[in-house]
Amino acid sequence: MATPIAGNVQRSEAVEAVLEELLASMTWEQKLAQLQIAFRPRLEDAKDLARGGIGAVFWPRSAEATNELQRTAREETPHGIPLLVGLDVVHGQRTTFPVPLAQAASFDPAVAGADARISAKEAASGGVNWTFSPMVDVSRDPRWGRVVEGFGEDTHVNSVFGAAKIRGYQGESLANEDSILACAKHFVAYGQAEGGRDYNTVDVSVQRLRNVYLEPFRAAVEAGAATVMAAFNTVSGRPAHANGNLLTELLKEEWGFEGVVVGDADGVVNLIEHGVAANLGDALQQSYAAGLDVEMGGNAVSVDGVALLSPGDVSSERVDDAVRRVLRLKHALALFDNPYRDAALEVTAPSAETRLAAREAAEKCLVLLKNDDGVLPLVASRLRVLLVGPYAESNDHLGAWVQSFAEPAGTLADSIQAECPDWSLTVKEGTGFFQEDPALLADAVSSAEQHDVIVVAVGEPSSLTGEASSRSDLRLPGGQEELIRAIAGTGKPFAVVMFNGRPLVTSAWIDSAPTVLEAWHLGLEGPAAVARALSGQVNPGGRLPMTFPRSSSQVPIHYDHENTGRPATVSARMDEDVVDVALMGPGNTDDRYTSKYRDLPLGPQFAFGHGLSYTSFGYGQIQVEKEELALEDLREGRVFRLDIALSNTGDRSGDEVTLLFIRDRVASLAQPVRRLRAFSRTTLDAGQTELLSFDLGWSDLGFWDNQGRYVVEPGEFEVHIGGGLENNAHTVVRLT
Ligand code: NOJ
Repeated sequence: MATPIAGNVQRSEAVEAVLEELLASMTWEQKLAQLQIAFRPRLEDAKDLARGGIGAVFWPRSAEATNELQRTAREETPHGIPLLVGLDVVHGQRTTFPVPLAQAASFDPAVAGADARISAKEAASGGVNWTFSPMVDVSRDPRWGRVVEGFGEDTHVNSVFGAAKIRGYQGESLANEDSILACAKHFVAYGQAEGGRDYNTVDVSVQRLRNVYLEPFRAAVEAGAATVMAAFNTVSGRPAHANGNLLTELLKEEWGFEGVVVGDADGVVNLIEHGVAANLGDALQQSYAAGLDVEMGGNAVSVDGVALLSPGDVSSERVDDAVRRVLRLKHALALFDNPYRDAALEVTAPSAETRLAAREAAEKCLVLLKNDDGVLPLVASRLRVLLVGPYAESNDHLGAWVQSFAEPAGTLADSIQAECPDWSLTVKEGTGFFQEDPALLADAVSSAEQHDVIVVAVGEPSSLTGEASSRSDLRLPGGQEELIRAIAGTGKPFAVVMFNGRPLVTSAWIDSAPTVLEAWHLGLEGPAAVARALSGQVNPGGRLPMTFPRSSSQVPIHYDHENTGRPATVSARMDEDVVDVALMGPGNTDDRYTSKYRDLPLGPQFAFGHGLSYTSFGYGQIQVEKEELALEDLREGRVFRLDIALSNTGDRSGDEVTLLFIRDRVASLAQPVRRLRAFSRTTLDAGQTELLSFDLGWSDLGFWDNQGRYVVEPGEFEVHIGGGLENNAHTVVRLT
């Protein structure tokens, strides 16, 4: 039986024979040259590298330049091996989609799939054949700027969205001209960087590593990810780049990963600063020996062909294995047949079709956090709307990890003019992102009187999000909090729209704002999506994929925490039927000796899964086919089938995200109070009812122990189904 290499590409004897022959004719230096990717912005420098037989380069920014590089590699090297051409295509190439964290808020993996497919088509048309995406680092600390690149705090959500991205990038077949290799990153546990500080240390137990951080990577490998990127961080003392337990024993041996492990930018060089390698040669040797296949930086072989390692520094079997992995992917991409792309067909701008896809995606990511007085939607005609705040006229909507050549987004003011032509719109800045200006503030406030409603567009500029953008203070920067409070002081109805790439702390103003719409950084069509939601053409249906804390000091905070021995929330009690008690407080604040902060109310500001709608939804009771199953039957593939009726109880159509959580009541290791095991997003017309079905099986009810074994233990499992963490329908199933 053939083994898949990546995607649906099967290993074939014929290809293996060709590759073996090629390998046998390569020198040590030629082999090592294949095991690196270099970043050289100047085409002439990149051509020198190609002549030297390098295996991979970063994209030289056009199909024409890429063709030149490929031609150099094909025609001016002894073996004519084509190049892998890599680029971070994270949420768009020409057509920018919402940032990944926002995509997760859609709870609709089709959003990630559409982004990846369109991104792959656009990037591949220019000669890119490898993206360093998706990031599937579970992220529970919003101080870490990179939370914007992943799918939030939940393991299951990261697994599902990561897999959707991988399938989208890699397409039906890797050999198709519009398919590119995906890369699941950063392996592993980067999301647990201490203090949320980028590049910082990670120390993690086996059970947490397995249950939380590794699962999305396992899902990525199962989805056929062609490559995996090592993380910058240490994992329990050993940097990931030189961690043989992770790269070889776990990823390649236990999971059978057949693709390529690539290092992060200078991640091998950084082993010296980590203090585990004496010099660059030592760092390279340790990394390749640990299972790294491609070094990112281009340090293994110099342009003139001098290798930093000698035969014997790393076993020839290991080097051959790495080269085979690289060559197999090149073969799977059909680069040996044709590495060139028709420069005339290079996509250099979004089309009407890709714009529409980006807009539909953006609309699905909106989360209505509050709508106390039903301020939104603004449906009256001839409405006098005052738009204030630094995001009113900013075009900073594309978000972190966006291409410098991507089509720019317009402004919210322009989109409101276009989408809501019968409003009378006035725009006032009110404050800059960082500078407080009393004159601007006074001008905005004095204008309020002449308007029916005020939209306050605030946020965190995308330059404060992404790599190397950790923050210690999660509030809106500059004078924005003051602007919101000043607008609240006018007594006029108003809605706050937040544009940001991480959960923000809103406690200084949230109680004074009746309505808050979370709009993230939604990409090219973000402003249009927001305008359409403000005016009710779109009904927001997204949910938070990450907890919004009350204070920056409350992090890390996540819904799937363990109970502790002294929980402060009442839901923690095991001696009563607690399944329907609110998880998030008010809870047991009288007892001093419980787990909490004495100067903060219990729980977060907005919990994971929170999100409202312009309509309302109701759930029936959970119907279980069988309340009890034998462990052995579950192992054999039997499942608990759960049905629940979902109804749109309001007066307009809308989308409901349904979340299914479990709680293992008693286990040999302390289990989270809730674990998300399934979710769905359903569109229902007013008054419509639909029956939803979910299956819980072997892979849903167990956990990984500290010996790295997956165990399912008999006992009672609470099942909670509903539109968030609270007030859910519930039942108990038993394993005997
Ligand atoms: C560093 C980042 O950590 C990684 O995510 C990215 O893919 C590489 N740089 C390449 O740009």
